[in-house]
Amino acid sequence: MSDKLWGGRFTGKAAEWVDEFGASIGFDYHLAAEDLEGSLAHVKMLGHQGIISQADADEITTGLHSLEEDLAAGKIEFSVANEDIHLNMEALLTKKIGPVAGKLHTGRSRNDQVATDFHLWVKHRLPAVKEAITELQATLLSLAEEHAGTIMPGYTHMQHAQPISYGHYLLAYFEMFQRDFERFEFNEKHTDKLPLGAAALAGTTFPIDREMVAEDLNFTDIYHNSLDAVSDRDFALEFLSNASILMVHLSRMAEELILWGTYEFNYIELSDNFSTGSSIMPQKKNADFAELVRGKSGHVFGSLMGLLTVMKGLPLAYNKDMQEDKAATFAVMDTILASIKVFTGMVSTMTVHKERMAAATKDDFSNATELADYLATKGLPFRQAHAVVGELVLKGIQEGKTLNEMSLAELQAADSHIEDDVYAELESEQAVNRRTSLGGTAVVNVLNEVNRGKSILAGH
Ligand code: ARG
Repeated sequence: MSDKLWGGRFTGKAAEWVDEFGASIGFDYHLAAEDLEGSLAHVKMLGHQGIISQADADEITTGLHSLEEDLAAGKIEFSVANEDIHLNMEALLTKKIGPVAGKLHTGRSRNDQVATDFHLWVKHRLPAVKEAITELQATLLSLAEEHAGTIMPGYTHMQHAQPISYGHYLLAYFEMFQRDFERFEFNEKHTDKLPLGAAALAGTTFPIDREMVAEDLNFTDIYHNSLDAVSDRDFALEFLSNASILMVHLSRMAEELILWGTYEFNYIELSDNFSTGSSIMPQKKNADFAELVRGKSGHVFGSLMGLLTVMKGLPLAYNKDMQEDKAATFAVMDTILASIKVFTGMVSTMTVHKERMAAATKDDFSNATELADYLATKGLPFRQAHAVVGELVLKGIQEGKTLNEMSLAELQAADSHIEDDVYAELESEQAVNRRTSLGGTAVVNVLNEVNRGKSILAGH
């Protein structure tokens, strides 16, 4: 017989390096607290149901509590020979209380045990993700309020398109992060389901009480199919998918922070606390942290693709491939929490060069749509108005003047409908403030949306 906990039917013994290949303790030690939590609930139920004697249950419970203390004190050492967190914990328990520890695994398999631990691990951490997102949203809201009246060029195709409020721009990200928040909230619902009691794959002959365990572990719901319970990793896929979409948002905004901090744009300047210097070029102030957030999106997306690929060909029920679900999920949790935190710090401490933003809307043609709209309200078909203004823009480019700099005679030569009142409408502030359509960039809209945002956050 081999010395493994499952060694009864084995006569051969794998080499150490083979054990190492199969072991997951190198990363699933992260589940230690959850493993003990799950075992405590399981043994309590075993005792309550009379599946093991109350005296045995009490002894095991005491042992598990003592392991909790050891864990908190950093006194636990895991071994690769014991393969994973579950077998390590059982071996440690046996060392503490002797062979009665072997009764803990009654009516349970590592398959439903690992699923339970992993659900608990994600479930315990999703609130911190939602909190971090909320903090970032609050930062964006107060910045948007401050900059409701800050005018900047809005872009399409990276070309000046129409002037917008910088606050409006910030609120666009508020909306994205709100959807992220809601996705993680939904993720919580699917994670809040108890797999324990499914045993290896088919349920158990012991008279277990899954409701009792669910209540003890604070699960709202219970898996109703034992095969699904041990095979489902949707909650992890959802987490990685939500994390990926979140990173898309962070990365897009990071890209703008980097770009807008360049000499050429100079719209914003990141604080010294969120910038780095160069070892050779004394003048440099680099947006390393924004770049890292953008860069870290790579491993988050990779983790999602990784787990999708692990899962896609797995026949029911448990397969060892599924052991590959954890390391990436643990790392992604760390990455997104740190990225959101850095981002919040970066955004709340940066300087916004609002004069520079506004100036960029003064010497360009981002008011061309204003003139076309103006002509359309005077009765010209919009398509014709578009053509008239297009020709004026061409003239302006050739002669080096903006639409505002053209005389009334020059404008009227293009179309006789144009009158003196046109100049006010060509101002970028006007262009912004006239866009009062629902969801438009007008300052009053932005301020209303800030209030709406505040009530959304109050509900988080
Ligand atoms: N370490 C394994 C995992 O992470 C635990 C479950 C193992 N179950 C088994 N039947 N080999 O998936």
